[in-house]
Amino acid sequence: MNYSWIVVSSLLCSVAYGSNLTFPPGFKFGAASASYQVEGAWNVSDKGESIWDRLVHTKPEAIMDLTNGDVTCDSYHLWERDIEMATELGLHFYRFSLSWPRLMPTGFSNKISEDGQKYYNNLIDGLLDKGIEPLVTIFHWDLPQSLQDLGGWMNPLIVDWFEDYARVVFSLFADRVKTWVSINEPVSICDYVYNTGGMAPPIFEPHVAPYVCTKHVLLAHAKAWRIYDEEFRPMYNGEISLAIPLIWHEALSAEHEELAELLRENIAGRYSHPVYSKEGGWPPSLEKHLEEVGKRKGFNKSVLPPFTKEEIDLIRGTYDYYGMNFYTSRLVRKARPGESIGAWPMNGAPDFDAAFEKDPSWVAGYSSWFYVTPEYFRPQIMWLKEKYGDLKFLITENGISTGPGLDDRMRVEYYRDHLKELLLAIHEDGVNVVGFTAWTLMDNFEWNDGLGSKFGLYEVNFTSPQRTRTPRASAHYYKSIIDTHSIPK
Ligand code: NOJ
Repeated sequence: MNYSWIVVSSLLCSVAYGSNLTFPPGFKFGAASASYQVEGAWNVSDKGESIWDRLVHTKPEAIMDLTNGDVTCDSYHLWERDIEMATELGLHFYRFSLSWPRLMPTGFSNKISEDGQKYYNNLIDGLLDKGIEPLVTIFHWDLPQSLQDLGGWMNPLIVDWFEDYARVVFSLFADRVKTWVSINEPVSICDYVYNTGGMAPPIFEPHVAPYVCTKHVLLAHAKAWRIYDEEFRPMYNGEISLAIPLIWHEALSAEHEELAELLRENIAGRYSHPVYSKEGGWPPSLEKHLEEVGKRKGFNKSVLPPFTKEEIDLIRGTYDYYGMNFYTSRLVRKARPGESIGAWPMNGAPDFDAAFEKDPSWVAGYSSWFYVTPEYFRPQIMWLKEKYGDLKFLITENGISTGPGLDDRMRVEYYRDHLKELLLAIHEDGVNVVGFTAWTLMDNFEWNDGLGSKFGLYEVNFTSPQRTRTPRASAHYYKSIIDTHSIPK
């Protein structure tokens, strides 16, 4: 597949008629958030401590502007206003996540919090009352600290702990929630965490930890999918998949193409191939490469833990749609001898002797890792389609970080340009895309970038006790896309 051809064709088509196309009937628009990023109320009632609570309280310097999620948008108390905003926008669905330690304060299923249940029941019922579907992420990074104390994603038992948690969640909410994301962005909780040591938990172990974590995340997801499939789908007929973050890796020039493809297998393939390919297991090219890396590091075996035949079968096919988060891209080249390479997936990939660059034409977002690259949205989707066949795609996140202010022209253009590419993927390439989720409904706690990084359709005033939410220009624009089911001129 020649991906540069898609880029050229996108340019031609969007000039010719990209903005005249409409979204297919039944295509749904939503917006997303995540528990630690919006809820606040970190120690209200019997809520347990999460690994993010622990990080911000013990290492506040890990957050760029020294803010934290203790209160953030205070959605724990202001959930009615959140529903009102979703209604104002005309959203078809609202994607939010459940806080594991809010629902299960010990981390285990021996104790289910009454107040935790009440909060999520209110939110789910309130959305349904307004005709908005709740799309629920079971895990969006705020692991109970109690489980981290036992090793967190490094302990193989986490597969059972997650299974118990998922069963509780389905028993409580599956009668009303029809679309689920099991685990959000495995690459963030495995690769970002252990390659940088800067997120929660603050553990730096870039040799094997990201790969061991990947295996446990995939097994945990697979168990949750199977529980849903066997015990809940017969009654409720919903859907569940992972949300996988894709960063397109484009070769700087033809001589780097093989490396770029290997990196695509590392970010997209490592998390997709075991679930979506016919044969299951790790992508063969990646498996081979990481075995060499293992030897190079003196481990005498691969850094990628092997799967047993049973594990391959357990994971393979555990999907109902492909949940895709897309934000940005990288230019990839082979590192020069002796060149120091930054941590993957930010600045380079040491295990691949790869350095990353940005194209001089790319516009930067507020976050250091962010460049605006809508031209690679369609190639990324096509790469997945080529590899794994005609999947049903749900874009589970897309958005841009900016500085403050209500006139966010950059965000308007970002959505316009990405949605145009999506329309071309649907109409030109015949990709089955069923929905799009804007990240995010309102400004919130952007992890290590803190409250200063603004991703919201609504601005939040973090100094007002009411955490006043005000629509930005992009909120009005997004509403007009939803209302017209097309991209307004
Ligand atoms: C992906 C994550 O799922 C979300 O939590 C984060 O805020 C956005 N990316 C923006 O960085």
